Amino acid sequence: MENKIKLLSEQIEEFVIEGKESLEKFRIQYLGSKNVLKDLFTEIKTVPSENRKTVGQLINGIKNQAQEKFDAAGAIKEVTEESNSTLDLSLSGDLNKLGSRHPLSIVNQQIIDIFSKIGFNVSEGPEVEDDWHNFSALNFTDEHPARDMQDTFFIEKNPDWLLRTHTSSVQIRVMEGAELPIRTITPGRVYRNEAISARAHCFFHQVEGIYIDKNVSFADLKQTIDYFAKEMFGERAKIRLRPSYFPFTEPSAEVDVSCSLCNTKGCNVCKYTGWLEILGCGMIDPNVLKSAGIDPEEYSGFAFGMGVERMAMLKYEVKDLRMWSENDVRFLDQFKSAW
Ligand code: PHE
Repeated sequence: MENKIKLLSEQIEEFVIEGKESLEKFRIQYLGSKNVLKDLFTEIKTVPSENRKTVGQLINGIKNQAQEKFDAAGAIKEVTEESNSTLDLSLSGDLNKLGSRHPLSIVNQQIIDIFSKIGFNVSEGPEVEDDWHNFSALNFTDEHPARDMQDTFFIEKNPDWLLRTHTSSVQIRVMEGAELPIRTITPGRVYRNEAISARAHCFFHQVEGIYIDKNVSFADLKQTIDYFAKEMFGERAKIRLRPSYFPFTEPSAEVDVSCSLCNTKGCNVCKYTGWLEILGCGMIDPNVLKSAGIDPEEYSGFAFGMGVERMAMLKYEVKDLRMWSENDVRFLDQFKSAW
């Protein structure tokens, strides 16, 4: 009898419950109304009375063993079934869709970082400007072509208001209010009444800058631009200045940087000139200082201005200006690792 119980206990132990069917088989065999343990309880009568108690306890023991095994297997099965219905653990995980900075924001920030290293802070101003800050205070004469509707978006109800054509307007606002010396850059969006093409757009972004102090010279301007070009385009970058004209600077210059692809030898990117135009600059015209209430006898300053799109086009060799504002994800995706 005791051997039989031991054997049954081993069978219960070894019974493999793998799914619904084997669980049910186990239940019928060991816990159902006609289970094998019942026979043992019947057989107990044949056991000598002094041993009955022990044998009874043994049979109860395997009954509990069977019940515990059934309960545990049932619990596992429930969990697995539940998981099956909602979760497939073999599927690969959801990909995190990472966004990226817009390439113009990357370049804009890079320009800001370069100038902040040499003490320029950042100033911002309104995109809807008045004539004074955008034109008059900057020494634009009344007949200047930029004042023409063909070139500038005027606000219809009040033609004294317009969409700023450059961020030089912010420089005037800074000069009017600030204490001297001033060393600031003015990043922002500007608007021009141009037909949209690969080379022109009705809006784009600029970073302009001014430095006003006692004894600021053209040499300071040149050194600052040289530093900027090397930070932006690499140690080997060289600059050259060509005489130019802006109403608000005198003398004025346009700055080219050596083409980093051919190192001034000439290639199709620099149109075989070896140089790429990057910005305009000059010494602030005394009339402009006066308009902003600064004494040109005591102070002098330089100003410069560049297009962020142009800088980004040179850096990433993008040929069509429209790419920057079309928000084509296939294009923008390429800059994910740039920042
Ligand atoms: N404001 C000029 C432009 O929009 C750029 C510039 C700024 C040129 C400062 C010289 C000095 O083209």
